[in-house]
Amino acid sequence: MTNDSCILIVDDELGPREALRMILRDNYRVTVAASGKEALDCFAGKEYDLVILDIRMPDINGVDLLAEIKKKAPETEVVMITAYASVETATKALRYGALDYLIKPFDRASVLNVVEKGLSRRSNTRGMRDKLKELQLANKTLEKEVEYAYKNIQGHYSETVSSLVAAVDAKDAYTKGHQERIARFAQLIGQKIGCSAEETELIKQAAILHDIGKIGVPEAILMKQDALTDEEYEIIKKHPVIGAKILSPVQFLKEVVPLVFFHHERFDGTGYPRGLKGSQIPLSARVICIADAVDAMLSQRPYSRAKTVEKVKEELLRCSGTQFDPQLVDVIIKNDLLSVYLLLVETHEASSSSSDG
Ligand SMILES: [Fe+2]
Repeated sequence: MTNDSCILIVDDELGPREALRMILRDNYRVTVAASGKEALDCFAGKEYDLVILDIRMPDINGVDLLAEIKKKAPETEVVMITAYASVETATKALRYGALDYLIKPFDRASVLNVVEKGLSRRSNTRGMRDKLKELQLANKTLEKEVEYAYKNIQGHYSETVSSLVAAVDAKDAYTKGHQERIARFAQLIGQKIGCSAEETELIKQAAILHDIGKIGVPEAILMKQDALTDEEYEIIKKHPVIGAKILSPVQFLKEVVPLVFFHHERFDGTGYPRGLKGSQIPLSARVICIADAVDAMLSQRPYSRAKTVEKVKEELLRCSGTQFDPQLVDVIIKNDLLSVYLLLVETHEASSSSSDG
C-alpha cells in the first residue's frame, strides 16, 4: 500500500540518492534533488512531510540548507545524511532542528525506521496544528459570546441606573435632570485633570447616582421651601450613607459606592458623613462635590435664582480650600469650564425639547 506522505531526497551524489529512492519509492511519494538550490526550488508551491538531506554538497552547506527549509516550512521534518567522518556535523544539525541522521552506506531497515519516526512526528505536529486551529476557533466563538454577555450586562446596568435615577427624579421634582447635568460637568472636570477614560466613566456613573440616597429622605423635607430645622438637616445629611447602602449589594457598582458616600465631604474637613480632609477624600468624590455645587448655583431653584457665571466664579474662589479642592477650582476657572458647562446644558436641553416635541 502506498503512503501519501511526500519525501524529498537531496544529495549531489547519484549513488546514495538513488539508493534512498529505491528503498522508499514503493511506500511514499518520492522527489529527488541533486543540489541545494534544486531542493529549495522544490518548495515553491509544494509541501514535503520529510526531507532527507546530505550534509556535504557543493553549492549549499547542508546545515545552512536545513535552516532555509525550516524557515520556509517549519513543520517539515529533516533527516541528515552523513558519512562516519562527519557525525559531529550531524549532531550539530540536530541542534538546528533536524530529527535524526543516517550514515552512509544505508541500511534499509534503519532508513525505513527513521522515515517512519519522522512521518509520525510530522503527523503529530499536523494534529496539534489542527487542534490549535480548532481551539482558536472555539476561542473566537467564546470571545463573541463573552462580548454579547458583556453588552447584555451593560444594557441591564443602564436600565438599572435609569430606574434609580428616575426614582430620585420622581421624589424630588425640583432637582429633575440634576444628576445628568452633574455627570456631564464632573466628566468634563475629570478629563481636564487628566483622569483615564475608565476613571472618567466611573466619575460619570457616580455623579448620576450620587443623590440616590434621597429616596430615603421624606418628601416633605426634600420639597420644603423654608429653611430646614436642625433636625431636618440631620435627616438630609444621611442621604450619602443611605445611597451607599442602596448601591452596596450591586456588584458592578462596587467602585461607585465610596464616591456616593463621600460626595458631601468638604476639603477643610467640615463636611459629612465622615468629616474627611483634603486628600483623604477620594479625588473623584471631590470632583462630584464641586460639580454638584456648581450645578446648584447655576440652576434656578424654587428658593433661589440661578447665579451668573461671574457670581459662581466668585463663590468658587471664596470657598477654595474650605468647601472645595483648590486644584479643582483652579482647573474650572483657568479652562473657563463654567461657560463650557452652560453651553453643554443648553445644547442638551435644546435636543431634549426638540425630541419631546
Ligand atoms: Fe447630595
